[in-house]
Amino acid sequence: MAYETLIVETRGNVGLVTLNRPQALNALNSTVLKELKEAYAAFHADETVGAIVLTGSERAFAAGADIKEMQPLEFADIYKSDFISGWDEVAKARKPVIAAVSGFALGGGCELAMMCDFIIASETAKFGQPEITLGVIPGMGGSQRLTRAVGKAKAMDLILTGRMMDAAEAERSGLVSRVVAPERLLDEALAAAEKIASLSRPSVMMAKEAVSRAFETTLEEGLRFERRLFHSLFATDDQKEGMAAFVEKRKPAFTHR
Ligand code: HXC
Repeated sequence: MAYETLIVETRGNVGLVTLNRPQALNALNSTVLKELKEAYAAFHADETVGAIVLTGSERAFAAGADIKEMQPLEFADIYKSDFISGWDEVAKARKPVIAAVSGFALGGGCELAMMCDFIIASETAKFGQPEITLGVIPGMGGSQRLTRAVGKAKAMDLILTGRMMDAAEAERSGLVSRVVAPERLLDEALAAAEKIASLSRPSVMMAKEAVSRAFETTLEEGLRFERRLFHSLFATDDQKEGMAAFVEKRKPAFTHR
């Protein structure tokens, strides 16, 4: 199966997915979503695959949802189509998924990493939720999953200021499980995934379900609420301005309307 935005391969008993849109720092567009769902489905159907590793490039895991794809969208359309709700399916992968993050994991990229079961980061990793600088808010789970992962203080700090945090801060905060040298990143993640793949599938899957349950209580409602707010921001002038300014490479002039 040929993929346009991903490299999909098997290493031993591990499914390896590499985000591959280098020209856009792996920004997540609708093709990435469609292909990621297909790749995961293929790995789920493959009895030999016991775990999945999701990674990007050295420079970027993913620099966010694709701003150029979102820029022209209007509230009514994205509300009716429930824009980005398809990512819920990615988050619900039943086999364990490890995110191997190097470089930028911003906005939807940070949110995609948090949809994985745990994150192994390279020393160069940078995490953030910069949506606020575009006149919107996280829409793929950031306000819910980041808050659950790092607590209110750090989540508010990151989401309200849009600043990035480095790998050391992310590890201190509990967002990532391990930090390794950049050249070790993929091997470390593949070894962890191979270990998981060597264990009992039902127990691994149930362990994953059990731990995930701790995060899911009331998460549904939070995600739905967040998504509706995200949709409604496309009715504001500041979303138009924030995204236009990014694309035109200038500072946004927000009118707070
Ligand atoms: C579309 C993007 C992009 C994005 C980068 N690019 N991020 N395109 N969507 N999210 C493109 C740039 O336009 C540029 O294309 C190329 O990738 C290289 O990026 P540069 O900006 O030139 O690189 P650099 O100067 O090194 O800066 C890296 C960066 C910056 C700090 C990561 O690109 C950046 O701030 N990106 C946006 C980060 C962001 O705001 N993410 C949140 C998105 S909103 P050209 O063609 O000019 O070479 C979001 C919402 C999720 O994720 C919620 C639901 C959808």
